[in-house]
This record gives sequence, structure tokens and C-alpha cells, in this order.
Amino acid sequence: MIVVSGPASKSLGANIAEILNAKTVDVNFKAFPDGEYCLRFEGDVSGEEVVVVQTTGPPQDTNVMQLLLMLDAAKDLGAKKVTAVVPYLAFARQDKRFLAGEVISAQTLVKLIEACGVDSFVTVNIHAKNTLKNFKVPTANLSAITLLAEHFKAQGLDGAFSLSPDKGAVGLAEEANRVLGGGCGWLRKERDRYTGEIQVEEKSLNVDGRDVVVFDDIISTGGTIARAIKMLKTQGARRVYAACVHPLLIGEAKTKILESGADEIVGTDSLSTSVRTVSLAPLIAEALAR
Ligand code: R5P
Repeated sequence: MIVVSGPASKSLGANIAEILNAKTVDVNFKAFPDGEYCLRFEGDVSGEEVVVVQTTGPPQDTNVMQLLLMLDAAKDLGAKKVTAVVPYLAFARQDKRFLAGEVISAQTLVKLIEACGVDSFVTVNIHAKNTLKNFKVPTANLSAITLLAEHFKAQGLDGAFSLSPDKGAVGLAEEANRVLGGGCGWLRKERDRYTGEIQVEEKSLNVDGRDVVVFDDIISTGGTIARAIKMLKTQGARRVYAACVHPLLIGEAKTKILESGADEIVGTDSLSTSVRTVSLAPLIAEALAR
């Protein structure tokens, strides 16, 4: 197996290769004055099983394009099998037509990835699992929630309450509760599809004096998780932590969350932000070794 780490996932890819004791092929990046670029595999991949690791957070267009170029090139250069490892799949939140006439971005992305000849696709906590049904090749949707919860347990948060800020993500809190064991719950969130504004319904959570970890798949602007944390603090929660798999942390998200009362924000290296405390490398390496 050869691991090719794309420009957006250099250190994650290197860590995966190290765990697997796999060979690596570097990707050379050359920028052109007009904003275009060229990628070049600096080693032979012909006849090999190639794993391309490239996350697709901001700048999404660039990272998606580079992913497609590398997948297509790997096949074109004679790779026997190509696996795309895309920890964060861009555009995955637009998995259906919420308003008449909208594009279904996640579906388009799947078509593009598959058109590049991939043989399998691996991602982590994809926003909507039904997106993967669009793939014809085998897929794996890994979950990093157990890893995140184990991190909190190791930090002395055993017995903390696990909360999902959105009923749709209640599975995340349930998974975390299997590690932390302090019970779990969820809030009800509504998003206005025209303005993007969210409303989080008030709910009594019985968290007075307790430690709580709020788990979400994505933190983007931080609005969702900050509202949940404010509610928890108002209800007397002691220490409150924000945990997510994909920390996009757009704009003032980090400040917003900390000012809402969070003790810490813990994310993974799905994206290269300052809160990438937990590495996905062991999880992805294990899946690739199966
Ligand atoms: C959406 O349903 C996701 O699971 C997250 O809750 C959402 O993307 C978070 O967005 P923001 O941080 O902007 O509130």
C-alpha cells in the first residue's frame, strides 16, 4: 500500500502511513500566476494499492479539485486500486433539496469522485449518511466520537453528561455516553432555510453541578454549540466542553464558544485548526488495514 497525502492533509496522511508502516509518495505542488496549479506524484504508483488522503475543508473548491486531480492521476498512472480518504467531505450538508430548485451538492460531489475511478471511499462522521448511498463502490463512514469521548475520559471527565445540540445528531451523544457513562440527551434546533438563522428550543436537562460535553459533527460559525453551552450554564452545569469531529471554526467561532462559557473546544485533525487535539490517524489506519 502507498499513502499519498494531499496538500490539505499532509500531516494526517503521514501519521496514517506511519501507523500502517506503509510506503509514501509525496505530492509536489506548483502554482501558476493565474491561480491554477499542477500536482505531481514524486514516485511510482503503478501496480500499487494507493490511498489518497485529502480533506476538503476551506478553501473547499481548491481542496476538492486537488482531490479529484490526485484520484484521477493515481488511476491514470496505473494504480491497481485507489482508495479516497476524505475525512471531511465538503458540501455534505447540502444532501437534499431543502428549497425548490436548489442543487444537491453532496450528490454532485459523489459523482465527481466516482468518475475519477476510485475503488473505495472512506470518510469520517459524514453529515448525512444517505449521501453514501449515491456511491456504487464500497464506502466506510468512520466515527471519531468514541475517540473524542476517550480523550475526555482520560482528562478526568468520566461520568460527564453527553449532549447533542441537535436531535438529528443524538447518535453522537449516545455513542459518547457508551464511553463517558454519565447519561445523554439532545436539544431541538431549527434552522431557517432562507436566512440560515437557528433557534434552539429551551429544555430542562438536569445538569446542575455536573460536567457536560456537547458533541457535534461540525462546528462552523459556532452558533449552534454556543447556544447549547449558554443553556447548560444557565441550568448550573459545572465544566462544559465543546467537542466536534470537523472544526471548521469560521470567523469568530472560537471566541463565541469560549465566551458562551465553554472550558475548552476539542476537535480532530480532520481539519488543520488550532483545536485538533485528537488525531484520526489510528481510526483511519485501522479501517484501511481491515
Ligand atoms: C448541522 O446540522 C451540523 O450538525 C452542525 O450543528 C452545524 O453545521 C453547526 O453550524 P454552526 O457552528 O454554524 O452553528
